[in-house]
Amino acid sequence: MSDRLLGKRALVTGGAGGIGTAICRRFVEEGAEVISLDIASGKLVGWTEFQVDITDQAELQELFGKIQTKWNWLDVVVNAAGIEIEKTIEETTLAEWNRIFAINVTGTFLVSKLSLPLLRKSDKGNIINFGSYDGFIADPKLAAYCATKGAIHALTKAMACDHGPEGIRVNAICPGFVDTPMLESFVGENGSVQDLKKDIEKLHPTNTMGQPEDIASLVLWLASDEARYASGQLWVMDGGLTAQVQQMNL
Ligand SMILES: NC(=O)c1ccc[n+]([C@@H]2O[C@H](COP(=O)([O-])OP(=O)(O)OC[C@H]3O[C@@H](n4cnc5c(N)ncnc54)[C@H](O)[C@@H]3O)[C@@H](O)[C@H]2O)c1
Repeated sequence: MSDRLLGKRALVTGGAGGIGTAICRRFVEEGAEVISLDIASGKLVGWTEFQVDITDQAELQELFGKIQTKWNWLDVVVNAAGIEIEKTIEETTLAEWNRIFAINVTGTFLVSKLSLPLLRKSDKGNIINFGSYDGFIADPKLAAYCATKGAIHALTKAMACDHGPEGIRVNAICPGFVDTPMLESFVGENGSVQDLKKDIEKLHPTNTMGQPEDIASLVLWLASDEARYASGQLWVMDGGLTAQVQQMNL
């Protein structure tokens, strides 16, 4: 490790999840001070955690007051909290639709909005959102999830345009299949987790699925000063999954 984030302060939502934990761990290894926000409790290894529902504006406002008092500024915000619902629009209730938008889209909006005053105190503020390959192309029975990820892609570009002039970069990472509890909950309903993971690997030209650490490496680069010219972009990391046409699987 090379202290690429030495002296930086980072806030990560979904820090108790598969990808979020890998990001927190990598950031700490690279010298950052890390604050994790998650509704669940995580594996704390060297960072501060707050249990909070990112859809609750009042709860978040109170927490950001505390963060401001204790930490004063932020350099990096990673919006990694998210859920998925495996349904067509016909099967999705309005409550489920509103819930997934509240977490995946409104949560990103609220956390980013409340972070801006703290990011402006950094000379190199930077926000990293979580889109998905599902924001470009669709998986079956994932309609609301796909819609939330498309919204994150558009929001990322809008935020980059609005806040670039004040020195804040904004990007989104769009992973393919990553081996996390979210993926396990998806494959777990459809049979043996190990068999399905093998089938998923075969879908990739690289014959492998992503690990949370792969995604953390890209987040690290985007968060670092090496990426100073990177903003407003959707960074796909998917082992070539979305580069191929279906004929490859004939
Ligand atoms: N795993 C994949 O294959 C994959 C693929 C593409 C994109 N993504 C995206 O990557 C991000 C991280 O996914 P993951 O696979 O680590 O999922 P995960 O389920 O392991 O982690 C998600 C975390 O979000 C937290 N969370 C959920 N609702 C919350 C709320 N209301 N307030 C605060 N925290 C809340 C959960 O407690 C959990 O710790 C998500 O945005 C997901 O959509 C994942």
